[in-house]
Amino acid sequence: MEGSIKEILISREEIAERVKVLGEKISRDYFDKKLMVIGILKGSFIFMADLVREITRPLEIDFMLLSSYGNSLQSSGQVNILKDLGQSIRGKEVMIVEDIIDTGLTLKWLTDTLLLREPSSLRTCTLLDKPSRRIVEITPDYNGFIIPDSFVVGYGLDYSERYRNLSDIVIVEP
Ligand code: PRP
Repeated sequence: MEGSIKEILISREEIAERVKVLGEKISRDYFDKKLMVIGILKGSFIFMADLVREITRPLEIDFMLLSSYGNSLQSSGQVNILKDLGQSIRGKEVMIVEDIIDTGLTLKWLTDTLLLREPSSLRTCTLLDKPSRRIVEITPDYNGFIIPDSFVVGYGLDYSERYRNLSDIVIVEP
C-alpha cells in the first residue's frame, strides 16, 4: 500500500506564509497569557515545530500520541492515547495543535477529554480542514487551509507511515 503522488496541493512556500500569519494571530490573541501548546503526534510534528517558532509569546510545549486511524484510511471513531501529557493542564491556557481535522471525531474526543482536566481555556489549531467529511460538529479556533476531500500527505501527514518527510502537501492516489 504505497499510493502514488498526483500533484502538489499546497507548496512549502504557501505553508510557511500561512503558518507565519497563524503565529502572529495567536501571539496577538495570547499577548498577556502564557500558553501551553500540545502537539498531537504523529501528524502534527512538523507543523508544531514551525508554528511555535512563529509565536512570539512565552509558551510551554507537550505532546500526546493518539491513534485513531491506525493504518486505515477511515477514522474508526475509536481514539486511543498511546502517550499522555507529562503534566497537569489544570488552570492553564491550552492550545491543541493538529495537522488535520477530517470527520472531527479525534478533535471532539480530545477536547472533551482535556476539558475534564480543567484547563483555564482550551483552543484548537489545525493546519488543514476538510469540512466536507465532518461527522461531528466542531470547528477549529485557528486553521491554515480548507482543503477538498482528497487524500493528502507530506509536512507530517502520512499514507501508511510514508511521506511524512515531504516539505509540500501533496495529493496521493491510493
Ligand atoms: C489523523 C490526524 C488527526 C485525525 C483527524 O491522525 O492527525 O488526529 O487523523 O481525523 P478525524 O477528524 O477524522 O478524526 P492519524 O490517526 O492518521 O494519526 P497520525 O497523526 O499519527 O498520522
